[in-house]
Amino acid sequence: MIRHRLPRLLAGAAFAATLAGASAPAFAQGQVTVYCSILEEQCREGAAMFEKATGIKVAMVRKSTGEVYAQVKAEANNPRGDVWWGGPGEPHLQAAAEGLLDAYKSPKLPELHGWAQRHAEQAKFRTNAIYLGALGIGYNSEVLKKRGIAAPKCWADLLDAKFRDEVQIADPGSSGTAYVFLATTVQRLGEDKGFDFLKSLHRNISQYTKSGIAPVKATALGETAVGIAFIHDMLTQKLQGAPIETVAPCEGTGYETGSVSVIKGGKNPEAARKFVDFTLSPDAQNINAKLKINSIPSNRNSLLSPDAPKFSEIKLIDYDTPRWGAPEERSRLLKKFDAEVKALPR
Ligand code: G6P
Repeated sequence: MIRHRLPRLLAGAAFAATLAGASAPAFAQGQVTVYCSILEEQCREGAAMFEKATGIKVAMVRKSTGEVYAQVKAEANNPRGDVWWGGPGEPHLQAAAEGLLDAYKSPKLPELHGWAQRHAEQAKFRTNAIYLGALGIGYNSEVLKKRGIAAPKCWADLLDAKFRDEVQIADPGSSGTAYVFLATTVQRLGEDKGFDFLKSLHRNISQYTKSGIAPVKATALGETAVGIAFIHDMLTQKLQGAPIETVAPCEGTGYETGSVSVIKGGKNPEAARKFVDFTLSPDAQNINAKLKINSIPSNRNSLLSPDAPKFSEIKLIDYDTPRWGAPEERSRLLKKFDAEVKALPR
């Protein structure tokens, strides 16, 4: 089984790169439709850069990862998208195994970290890795202080009744972030105890949001005391001045392998492959540094923000992305979550 041995691979991974040498303006014609599952501002910036560099017009739609998966599946007989940019690897892997994605071996592959190359190989090149992000807890320090609640340190702390209606997470059906949480919990505790944990946590959840970023924004604004999401997204809010603190849970946590894929049967396959090359390049990955987004880029020559969470300091479980992205497993877990957790009264 191919998994990513992260802490060792990432040690000392800070490579400097510059935007100098970014693709020269070109005048190629054409268009490409991109379903984008990273942050809206990253999607917009990337589209503008790609258009400028290639002359290819980008039609961009931002949707959460589970939603894009569902759309690509629904459009299988008449695909309307060309590229799926971003979001955790599991829904991409499910789509790959279901024959919805095209294999593409980008010439950029040799520039990628070993973990990213293995992700592509394991998926028979039907998806590629663009970044890593560790899952964690974020809390609004002002809200907790006001309520007299001690800061959580562990996943188990979130089960305490004092967090009743104080926790937000997205819905794992629509959000790739929340699916990583579901799979992390099941991997960490085993399926029975994992679902017991999710059922207990359900009592404290005020809302299952559609996108993974929504609980982060709500925590930053003090609309919820606690959000479960990717640590790098919480850090962005903190760097912007929000009273949000991040926690790498004491029991250990899972992580996402942010992915990019060519949609099978898309109308613009050549432009799609160019777009994938772009997303694997430092030009596109350095958008993160510009926007203070602190996921870990897959290209060895991309900038690693000094603010990025240090994977070597986070207790990571040996998270098995290929297993949780297998179609039977992902479909089964989501169905079980809806029936046994979401359907429960709170
Ligand atoms: C944000 C994060 C990404 C993540 C994505 C998933 O953009 O920065 O690291 O992959 O959310 O979004 P979703 O709405 O599918 O949870």
